[in-house]
Amino acid sequence: MREGTAPLIRREDYTAPAFWIRTVDLTFDLDPAKTLVINKMAVERNPDQPGASLRLDGEDINLTRVLVDGEPVSFRVENQQLVLDNLPDQPFALEIRTTCAPGKNTQLSGLYTSGGGFFTQCEALGFRRITYFLDRPDVMSVYKVTLKADKLKYPVLLSNGNLVEQGAIDADRHYAVWEDPHPKPCYLFALVAADLVSREQRVRTRLGKEHLLQIFVRAGDLDKTEHAMQSLMASISWDEIRFGLSLDLERFMIVAVSDFNMGAMENKGLNIFNTKFVLANPATATDVDFGNVESVVAHEYFHNWTGNRVTCRDWFQLSLKEGLTVFRDQQFSQDMAGSASARAVKRIEDVRTLRQLQFPEDAGPMAHPVRPDSYMAIDNFYTATVYEKGAEVVRMMHTLVGEAGFAEGMKLYFQRHDGHAVTCDDFAQAIADANPESELTKRLDQFKHWYTQAGTPRVQARGSYSAEHKTYTLHLSQNCAPTAGQPAKLPFVIPVAMGLVAHDGRNLNLHLEGEALPIGTDTVLVLSEPEQTFTFVHVPVEPVPSLLRGFSAPVVLQAELGDDALFTLLTHDKDPFNRWEAAQRLALRRLLQAVSGHGPAELDPRFIQALRGVLRNAELDAAFKELVLTLPSEAYVAEQLDTVDPQRIHTARESLKLQLAKALHEDWIWAWEQHNDCGAYSPDPVSSGRRALANLALSMLCLDGATRHNPIWTGKAFQRFKDANNMTDRLGALGALVNSHADLAPDALSRFHEQFRDEPLVIDKWFTLQAAAPEKDGKVFARAKALMQHPDFTLRTPNRARSLLMALCQMNPAAFHRPDAAGYVFWADRVIEIDSINPQLAARLARALDHWRRLAEPYRTAAREALGRVMAKPDLSDDVREIVTRALQ
Ligand code: PHE
Ligand code: ZN
Repeated sequence: MREGTAPLIRREDYTAPAFWIRTVDLTFDLDPAKTLVINKMAVERNPDQPGASLRLDGEDINLTRVLVDGEPVSFRVENQQLVLDNLPDQPFALEIRTTCAPGKNTQLSGLYTSGGGFFTQCEALGFRRITYFLDRPDVMSVYKVTLKADKLKYPVLLSNGNLVEQGAIDADRHYAVWEDPHPKPCYLFALVAADLVSREQRVRTRLGKEHLLQIFVRAGDLDKTEHAMQSLMASISWDEIRFGLSLDLERFMIVAVSDFNMGAMENKGLNIFNTKFVLANPATATDVDFGNVESVVAHEYFHNWTGNRVTCRDWFQLSLKEGLTVFRDQQFSQDMAGSASARAVKRIEDVRTLRQLQFPEDAGPMAHPVRPDSYMAIDNFYTATVYEKGAEVVRMMHTLVGEAGFAEGMKLYFQRHDGHAVTCDDFAQAIADANPESELTKRLDQFKHWYTQAGTPRVQARGSYSAEHKTYTLHLSQNCAPTAGQPAKLPFVIPVAMGLVAHDGRNLNLHLEGEALPIGTDTVLVLSEPEQTFTFVHVPVEPVPSLLRGFSAPVVLQAELGDDALFTLLTHDKDPFNRWEAAQRLALRRLLQAVSGHGPAELDPRFIQALRGVLRNAELDAAFKELVLTLPSEAYVAEQLDTVDPQRIHTARESLKLQLAKALHEDWIWAWEQHNDCGAYSPDPVSSGRRALANLALSMLCLDGATRHNPIWTGKAFQRFKDANNMTDRLGALGALVNSHADLAPDALSRFHEQFRDEPLVIDKWFTLQAAAPEKDGKVFARAKALMQHPDFTLRTPNRARSLLMALCQMNPAAFHRPDAAGYVFWADRVIEIDSINPQLAARLARALDHWRRLAEPYRTAAREALGRVMAKPDLSDDVREIVTRALQ
């Protein structure tokens, strides 16, 4: 275990490695208690660093032998490094033997056991827990791997690349040899030894090459692999068509494991997945799960080029692969969704995630640039900023150079950097160089402030219309609040996609002053100065500006539009994203009024009528309606406030929700009746949208019914819960009962548990549903606490721990933030407890109090005390220490 206080690692301290490791020949003698690892490397000195010592990283492993060119040499081990001095200038062979104990590896980093099999996780710094090595991504090597293990317990032996040999060692043990021809950094190494079965598929790609695709799972899970295989095949074609990138391996394998810290891992040719993001069938997975499987399978596959063929020079460049690959998987999912409306729905969902996770991060103690400057534990920087904001940065480049220009840029990126470890600058430069005339290229240095400056910029917009001159003047300005270590920010390059909408519904033709011709009904303005003015001519009537269409930049837009203007956009904007956005703003305005106690606590008829109009609109898709009719989350409301009282926000939001339930009662009935029968299950956007809307309607009807002690709708929900032919509808009905605290909820919950007791991913949902239910008189918190004692609960499986603890501490503000501080005491106890098992997991949970400073009293003081308790734990991991230190700073 790493211990003590780790020094801060800084981006500016980067130096090239003193040695290269050209080839690695690894032999594993696998045993849970004691695995022997023989590591034979061909090492070469970097001529730029004559005389330097070789310092190899190692953690939690026992060193038994070190040979240079076959001879024992002297060495020392200091600060978790094996140090060899006086090494030759000529290439030499280095052999290192170590042992480790995979069965005791509860951190799930390095080589560990899960469900009786062996698995590895090496990103970011796990390989050093397997053998001594230059554990840094700019050292790339060609691997040969020999696995030896008990034949009966571990019939399947896998590693990266191609299987070149296998056979029996003796009556009990067998072996397999794998070779990966592609040089790779050690974080992409993987092995699996387990009792698994596989779904196989042969495909021929556009280049005419044949490939074998395999998905390995536990025997009972084979019926949950079809969707992942379909998604994988679709990803392979998409990358060929969109970017001309083909699969470069004869064999591509996915392995599912139920103990995993993250979502999935892109190890070369051997992706390892959290079961949650690979297994799906209609009986056990929801529409959301199907969508997640599709996008995570695509994400990991796309990494084969963006991450593996071209990798990161150092971990500060993490967004080079993650931001770009998230952008790619988002584009893929949009293309898979098909219709313009379904694409918009996907975009809205992505933006919702960004706002709910990344914006708060950018405004709190963990704020960091997309390319961070320093870290204590790199695991803490697999963040919404590096991933989601990083994807937005790539998306803005795409907007500035256009789809074709972006594809040219990608081509140049691979021409220049294939097989190398590079930086975010290299990527931006390639996109710019391929598009010399673009706005990106003209302002590349300034554009890169998106990589170096933390914080969410605010864009202010003011417009004025001259009826006399028929001109519309749009004044845009930007600013960005200080973040830790960055007191003053330079202006960003902000693409503002926009249009002008007349109150009668026309989307007006845009004609910028000074231009010869109008440019159609939408355009992209580029805001690069602190303030800029754009004038449109020949504007026939006073328009409403529709700004930041499709959410063209990750900023907070302050457009100060009145209700009239927002109603116009909601009804008429040609951009579906901004229609949704207008509804969110209208709802947010009302929520904030209710929270502050200023303004009416009752919803105005006009707002209700507008939502009714959307719900009943025959032209709109159900999925879109569901998004419009869902109020902004409590977390999003909290984001808008300087002082946060989670209980007030909860009360206000619950009250408005109930008003919507009542005011639209007849409409909800209509929506339920029109959408509740989707026929045979298919996860496509149209049917999943219908299910989403039907489930929202059902939950609204139950909510209303529960307050009136009218059992009709809870009865219907219970019936639906029992009859549903798919998990989305079953869980939707169960949620309607649980969330309305219906009398039938306990019975339904226990039936559900009984029915799915052998499906861990479904049992996770069962825990989450209970811990995330709207708080009522402290019952939800009490229930969640009690569930810790449930025989199915364990802190050792991250999915299970998260299903209960993240649901309570991150997703359920009103249950977590209690005036009696019991939520914080519970949180601190769990962080401390998990820290001794799995520091990465503990650090994620630790972030639940990131925003303690903005809490109202008595929450604030109590939260600070809880943070102090965690900080005082002896042997606190670096991971948790970094989070808590930053929070308290
Ligand atoms: N690189 C993985 C991904 O984004 C995430 C990951 C990071 C997984 C660290 C495990 C450990 O696809
Ligand atoms: Zn990734």
